[in-house]
Amino acid sequence: MTNVVPFSSALRERSSGAHSGSEGAGFMSDLIKGEGTRDDYVALVAQHYFIYEALESATERMRHDPVAAVFISDKLTRLPALEADLEFLVGPEWRDTIGPLPATKRYVARIAQVAATWAGGFVAHHYTRYLGDLSGGLFIGRLMQRRFGFETNGVGFYLFDDIADPKAFKEVYREQLDAVPWDDAEKERVIDEVLRAYRFNTELFEDLERAKRAAVA
Ligand code: HEM
Repeated sequence: MTNVVPFSSALRERSSGAHSGSEGAGFMSDLIKGEGTRDDYVALVAQHYFIYEALESATERMRHDPVAAVFISDKLTRLPALEADLEFLVGPEWRDTIGPLPATKRYVARIAQVAATWAGGFVAHHYTRYLGDLSGGLFIGRLMQRRFGFETNGVGFYLFDDIADPKAFKEVYREQLDAVPWDDAEKERVIDEVLRAYRFNTELFEDLERAKRAAVA
């Protein structure tokens, strides 16, 4: 018998502090508490668009990588839903009205950089976004529906139509994380990259908060 902690558990434990930091960022917690406005929500959707554009073109580049490929599933793809959400929320000219905030630019640049060279780094970013979307994301989506009266239009990003059982999907994903033949040094690098991904998300919430204050000032 072995007492070695599975990689997926180590990853979750080592990132739980960073998760609380992201979850607790003012912009996000206001949105969750019902203190955010519809415009705040739209601003977040717009930033997600740039992040998933980067993540999902990285996914295309990594599709045939022997390590990364096992994590890739078209059931996760979010970009078409984000495009439809923005069309609904902003209107047909949405592409001309949105732009990436500074934290989003840094986040996107990092995703592009690791996806070109490093499967472990790609998996770190893939894990941080999609496992989050299949966890707290589902709850956030339901809250936004209730708060702003959306049915499916406007919250398509949070609706994984092709994943009937998110819990089971996440369990398989964790088993795949546990099965990757990374040595300890590589596992450490992947954990560090997950922490970095969380930091980008926290910084994004800070930028969104700043942009909001600047708009009302
Ligand atoms: C208010 C915002 C958030 C709430 C309420 C929330 C809530 C949760 C909850 C309840 C879980 C545990 C689900 C489970 O055990 O299966 C979870 C997991 C997770 N969340 Fe969040 N979350 C939020 C924001 C975020 C953000 C901003 C990120 C990063 C982009 C994120 C990434 C993750 C990840 C990667 C997991 C999976 C951890 C694992 O089991 O390995 N979450 N979240």
